[in-house]
Formats: sequence, C-alpha cells, structure tokens
Amino acid sequence: MTHVVFDQLTKIYPGADFKAVDDVTLDIPSGRLVAFLGPSGCGKTTMLKMITGLLRPTQGSITFDGENILGVPAEKRGAVMVFQNHLLFPYMSVGDNVGFGLKMRKIDKKVIEKRVDDMLELVKLPGVAKRRPNQLSGGQQQRVALARALITDPRVLLLDEPLSNLDAHLRDEMRGLILSIQRDLDVTTIFVTHDQEEAVLLADQIALIFDGKLVQYAPSTEFYERPISERGARFFGGLNFVPGTRQGNMVKTSIGSFQIATQGYEQAPEGDVMLTIRPERVQIVSQPADTNCITAKVSNTIYMGTHTRFKVQVQDDIEIEAARGDFTGSIETGDTVSVHFPEKRIWVVPRDS
Ligand SMILES: Nc1ncnc2c1ncn2[C@@H]1O[C@H](COP(=O)(O)OP(=O)(O)OP(=O)(O)O)[C@@H](O)[C@H]1O
Ligand SMILES: [Mg+2]
Repeated sequence: MTHVVFDQLTKIYPGADFKAVDDVTLDIPSGRLVAFLGPSGCGKTTMLKMITGLLRPTQGSITFDGENILGVPAEKRGAVMVFQNHLLFPYMSVGDNVGFGLKMRKIDKKVIEKRVDDMLELVKLPGVAKRRPNQLSGGQQQRVALARALITDPRVLLLDEPLSNLDAHLRDEMRGLILSIQRDLDVTTIFVTHDQEEAVLLADQIALIFDGKLVQYAPSTEFYERPISERGARFFGGLNFVPGTRQGNMVKTSIGSFQIATQGYEQAPEGDVMLTIRPERVQIVSQPADTNCITAKVSNTIYMGTHTRFKVQVQDDIEIEAARGDFTGSIETGDTVSVHFPEKRIWVVPRDS
C-alpha cells in the first residue's frame, strides 16, 4: 500500500507551447482506486508516464509515502503500467510474458514458474502459460497484461484505458475482475478512462481533468449531485441547464424563480450562474406545487427500457428533460404538464463563457 501525492505537477513537452499537465496537486490515499477521467488529449497518459518514470515532469514533484520519486530510476519505483494496446511480447509464451518482470530481477526459475501460475490463477486464466499471446482472445490478452503487471508486487498499479479495446460484455467482466483483484491486493491503483460511467463504476475517487488541469477531485456521487463546473456537469451527462442569477436561496431565470435549499450550497457560486438539475430529479407532478413548479408542453417522450424520459419545451430556447413524478396518467407529446424542480436537487455552477 502506497500513498501517492502530486504536488504542482506540470509537463510541457519539448518544443510545445502548452502545458500537457498544468499544475496538478492531488493526493491518492494508499490502497485506493482512483480514476483519471477526461476527454482525449487532456493529459491522462502523460501523468501516468511521469509516475512510472517514462517522462520527467517540467515542474513539481511526485511522492510515494512521502519520498520524492523523481530521482529514483523507473525500474526501482515499483509503479507498473498496463497500456491500452496491451503490448505482450508476441514471440514469447504467455508464461514468459507474465514472468518477464521477475526474470529481469534474476529470480530463480522455479520460483518464477510458481508465481506465474499463481498470477494466471488470479486473473482467471489457469493453464494457458504455454500458449502464445496470439492464441488468446483480446480480453484474455488483457488479463495476461494485468498478470504481468501484478507479478512484481507493484506499489502502484497504473491502468491506461485497459478496457477500451474490449466489447461491452468483456468490459463488464474485466471491470469486475480488476475491482476484486484491487480489493484483494490493496494495491494503490490509478485507472485512466474517458468514460464517466466506467469511472463511477470502478473508482473510490475521480479526478476530472480538462486541458491538463484538475477540475474536480471527489467521490463519484459528487460529480452527479455537486459538480463545480458547467463543463464537468455536462461531461457527467447533465442535460438541463438554465442561465440565471443566484441571490442567497433564490435563483432567478427566464423560466421562473427557483428556491434552493438552505444547506449544502455554501460553496456554490452567487450572481450569474447556470442552474442545473439532473433529468431523473425533475418531476412531472399531478398538482402544481406553490414553488419551483413550471408549466410546459411535452415535446418528446423517450422510452429507455426501465423507464421513460420526457422532454418538455419551456421556452423556445429552453428544453428540460424530466422524469415521471407522482403523475400517473398517460403523458403524450403535445400535453401540457406541471414540472417540479425539488429544491434540494437544484444545483448551480459558474457559467462557462
Ligand atoms: N510526445 C509528445 N510530444 C508532444 N506532445 C505530446 C506528446 N505526447 C502527448 N502530447 C500532447 O500532450 C497532450 C496530452 O496527451 P496525453 O497523451 O497525456 O492525453 P490523454 O489524456 O492520455 O489522451 P487520450 O485519452 O487520447 O489517450 C495532448 O495534447 C498531446 O497531443
Ligand atoms: Mg492516453
């Protein structure tokens, strides 16, 4: 178990005129699984490479349990990375691939063989040691890559979009495997992804990164209920955005004034804001409430298997996506409905310019 800390970590690639990683300070408690989440090009891989020693930061430091590791050679850091395209050695057997890290350390052959078998057992691939990587499926190869990383008992496990080449079913299976192995071994793990659902499913904490900058670092629920930026809220599937002005417990907008709860909004911005509320929290109700209720016309119904969502046109330029509240009747396109915004579910973020 290793406690990893970034302090003002910055990377400018030689000749580049921008910061691939920009002043990131981050604390990863030992034994946790943290997701680095963000769109393509935001600096996720660059950060992992600085941890492993493949790249040197331009500024800042990285510590493992308080020890600055930037002066420690890559092979002595105990940070191993599983790459997106798993990069097994094609001409080596699966067993030799998995045992590679130990062979480099000149460990006794018999010991390596035993450890290889244990690792293949751990990733649920017993008995494939003699095969070549190309005799395995993509998902199996990814598990071999994981076994190869884990065999050295790493202090820090770095997974760079390890599931993006797999189909949906295999991805689910691998996620489960990664979670259970991570919990078993208690190894501090960073999981890189650009898929917010995957981050939520796997991580104790999510670091949301845009343009090299750490935007928000929090448990996954916060990103749904308490995003701190409009872009972050949109990235997490927020769909309802209404510009307004917040004064204390009121947000004035062009579609009406909304009351927000008294607690939990101390850190939220005042003045010009963007009001946001998740579609599953906006409710079509049978009786218009005294506050936080608007009337609107249903513009579309979206059947989602387990439930139905309703788009309601509030103004020419403002459409809200809502769920069924206590209204039990049929809801059809063209109907006029009452739509309630529960005060504890409304949230405000600074408006993106
Ligand atoms: N060797 C390099 N030289 C110069 N610029 C680079 C180099 N590697 C990456 N970059 C740039 O640095 C930024 C961050 O790249 P990085 O690979 O860390 O992104 P990422 O978040 O991992 O993206 P993806 O999700 O597509 O893998 C990008 O703008 C990229 O073009
Ligand atoms: Mg990358």
